Amino acid sequence: MARYDDLKGKEVLVTGAASGIGRAQVIAFLQQGANVTGLDIKKSDVVDPNYSSIRMDLRNTDSLETFIEQCKFDIVCNTAGILDDFLSVEGTDYSYFSDIMKVNLDAMFLISKGLIEQDKPVTFVNMSSYAGLFASGGGVSYTTSKHAINGLTKEIAFEYGGRGVRANAIAPCLVKTDMVRDDFESGLDYRLAKKTVFNRYAAPEEIADLTLFLASDSSKYITGQVISIDGGYSLGNEV
Ligand SMILES: NC(=O)c1ccc[n+]([C@@H]2O[C@H](COP(=O)([O-])OP(=O)(O)OC[C@H]3O[C@@H](n4cnc5c(N)ncnc54)[C@H](O)[C@@H]3O)[C@@H](O)[C@H]2O)c1
Repeated sequence: MARYDDLKGKEVLVTGAASGIGRAQVIAFLQQGANVTGLDIKKSDVVDPNYSSIRMDLRNTDSLETFIEQCKFDIVCNTAGILDDFLSVEGTDYSYFSDIMKVNLDAMFLISKGLIEQDKPVTFVNMSSYAGLFASGGGVSYTTSKHAINGLTKEIAFEYGGRGVRANAIAPCLVKTDMVRDDFESGLDYRLAKKTVFNRYAAPEEIADLTLFLASDSSKYITGQVISIDGGYSLGNEV
């Protein structure tokens, strides 16, 4: 694992911290000597003196706003997200659409807004997706939310770069986590993995490695970007 000395002692927030990519990010930042707060609706199993875990439903906007008002973070990984059921516009009712947007997008907006209003330099690493770049990586709700995350990321980078704020998004494709557990149970993972040039899913730790780079001063001239980490999946596939 690369070492980023500037991450030592930084205050880091990770949402979606209890599993998958968020959990790997928590561990990666702790290994760099950062102080990490993990937020998730589920209980976290990570135990470390530099780790605090908060259980919260990101759809509870009042609790989220109050929490953010009381905190100071140098780095925020907006990682929590939920997949839809690959439903089309006609198959999606508004309350379902809205629920996906609340978790994937609205919470990210509220966290960003709360911290930007504190007028401190913050580095955001937002979790987009292959579905933020192409159709077919989800249904209309997930795909719309992930495209919107790219817009939010670029707008924050554009508006607040002069104040020392940086914002980038990561667009993974196939990562072996609970979110895609059904793919592994149905054998779909094997067929999808063959569409990458490496014939495999990514490990959550590989997304965490990119996160560290984007959070560190090593990427200090990179902002407003959506960075794919897809094993070449997008190079040669029909979308
Ligand atoms: N796994 C993949 O292949 C893949 C691909 C592209 C993008 N992503 C994105 O990566 C991010 C992390 O996903 P993952 O694959 O690690 O899945 P995951 O299901 O393992 O982790 C998601 C976490 O978000 C938390 N969460 C969900 N709803 C919440 C809520 N209302 N309030 C608080 N926490 C909530 C869950 O409890 C869970 O711990 C998501 O934004 C997802 O869209 C994943």
